[in-house]
Amino acid sequence: MKRATLTRFLIDEQYKHQSVPSDLRLLIEVVSRAIKAISINVGKGALAGLLGEHAGAGGANAAINVQGEAQKKLDVIANEILLEANEWGGHLAAMASEEMEGPHAIPHRYPKGEYLLLFDPLDGSSNIDVNVSVGTIFSVLKCPEGVTEPTADAFLQPGSKQVCAGFAVFGPSTVLVLTLGNGVHAFTLDRELGSFVLTQEHIRIPEDTKEFAINMSNMRFWEPPMKRYIDELLAGKTGPRGQDFNMRWVASMVADVHRILTRGGIFMYPRDTKDPGKAGRLRLMYEANPMAMIVEQAGGGASTGLTRILDVQPTGLHQRVPVVLGSKNEVARVVSYHQS
Ligand code: F6P
Repeated sequence: MKRATLTRFLIDEQYKHQSVPSDLRLLIEVVSRAIKAISINVGKGALAGLLGEHAGAGGANAAINVQGEAQKKLDVIANEILLEANEWGGHLAAMASEEMEGPHAIPHRYPKGEYLLLFDPLDGSSNIDVNVSVGTIFSVLKCPEGVTEPTADAFLQPGSKQVCAGFAVFGPSTVLVLTLGNGVHAFTLDRELGSFVLTQEHIRIPEDTKEFAINMSNMRFWEPPMKRYIDELLAGKTGPRGQDFNMRWVASMVADVHRILTRGGIFMYPRDTKDPGKAGRLRLMYEANPMAMIVEQAGGGASTGLTRILDVQPTGLHQRVPVVLGSKNEVARVVSYHQS
């Protein structure tokens, strides 16, 4: 059977649902090209001297990004690839990235478009040096009407306003997962052709699961509802759930979410008291929101424990939120524990 390329898929989607106007198609094609370039760089690793930390000004210590985290060389390269690829096509009004404090304006010498692009250029980057899967996450919003020079405020829209969300995982194969609001579809990079090829359509997350993903080392910092939920899972067959559960934690959200899309599961990075200044670890705008849109579109649930993630009104570009997402019935249970 001849499989559709990403380009063919996007054109078909426009015929079927009028969900991919030509500017949005260009945007997705450009992002997918940038993802190919990032995948090539990630694949080169030590051969091209790309592992390790990015040197800060003066060269002695690692550069620290806006999140207060040491930047890896590949974080910086992936960010530059996405910025450069998306600047000149005329499809964007502005971009925002995990690696930059404020929005990146489209230079005046280039035409501007109506979309805003947000990304985490290299998610899970602590895994780079140990050769474990990492990825890129992105989210697309419309620029508010009448805004010609978007500031951070233009980006502060709830996740329910996303017109497109996606992520790539650089694993044994490079896979791009995409939603435009009509289901979730996966494309595998054919390295000989240089094209993303549709390999899974209308992915559905099983409603029930026996697998959970959480960083257990934080248990002592969790709130009581989360402790209760995990205690019950750990109690297994002899506990209140009456069955054994299995645990997986890659520590790359892209890989953990991809596993959940493939065979179900629940992923949690809950609120904790480790750093009372932070509401969680994951960032709303370019991690939680795009993943929540994808998971909901695949029939799963995505909550902060108290609120649907896509309904959270953002207050800052780099705002953090607690995240509970995956198989619908397990997410509903975690929410019910928070409510009681
Ligand atoms: O910053 C994002 C991230 O790397 C996610 O990809 C991942 O799920 C999480 O952080 C891992 O956090 P920790 O190192 O605390 O397990």
